[in-house]
Amino acid sequence: MSIVAITREVSPGVERCELTHLERGRIDYELAVEQHRLYVDCLVELGCDVVQLSGDTELPDCVFVEDIAVVLDEVAILTRPGAASRRAETPAVRAALEPFRSLEEIREPGVVDGGDVLVVDRRLFVGLSTRTNESGLEQLSGLLEPYGYEVLPVEFDSCLHLKSAVTRVAERTLLIQQEWVDPGRFAGFELIPVDPTEPHGGNALRLRDTVIYADGFERTRGRMEAHGLKVCTVDQSELKKAEGGVTCCSLIFEGRERD
Ligand code: GLY
Repeated sequence: MSIVAITREVSPGVERCELTHLERGRIDYELAVEQHRLYVDCLVELGCDVVQLSGDTELPDCVFVEDIAVVLDEVAILTRPGAASRRAETPAVRAALEPFRSLEEIREPGVVDGGDVLVVDRRLFVGLSTRTNESGLEQLSGLLEPYGYEVLPVEFDSCLHLKSAVTRVAERTLLIQQEWVDPGRFAGFELIPVDPTEPHGGNALRLRDTVIYADGFERTRGRMEAHGLKVCTVDQSELKKAEGGVTCCSLIFEGRERD
């Protein structure tokens, strides 16, 4: 089965990105483009068929495609992103997903960012945040219940998206920043806490038997490796300033064409 990764070029307007928890700092666009190219190379090396969408100067956050859809085996949900500035990112992602999945969508007044949705098998842990509201969560639940998915709300704080605080790194293992999200929500999983000196180290992207992870969290990386995980690091110094992480920059799914 092929694995598809939808990615999108960094916007030349990335310096105007949305920011929630960070002060605005200068983003080196050329360096961001180069770092994103290496990230895409990493996806290709790990076996993905990459569909790279064009960037758009008017869509500063468009590189963060994860927020625009939740892609499951049976269906993809277009999310209606929580930041109004990001809603025009949807048409390109819709067009890219159409060959692969039937599509549903979150409607007003619901909002959801894909970064708030942690999928583990038939469960979706959904962070309630500045980007994802109760209506969005209820709509997700209604759309996915017929497919046998359970949607579970999760409170968290101190970061933009749930997946800044907790991500899946192996079949039954989560990487977690326990200061920001209650580990009790994830009973039954093996938890790897981020190193206390690396509070922003909770975002990792599991792809087959490898974990793609940002440079700069050496102690947390060591914790994952001590659990037997193979970790491949990428430099994301520029997109970090836009509150992006490794999961944000792709939508990864099995590449079955729709019936
Ligand atoms: N800059 C990423 C976001 O706020 O959506």
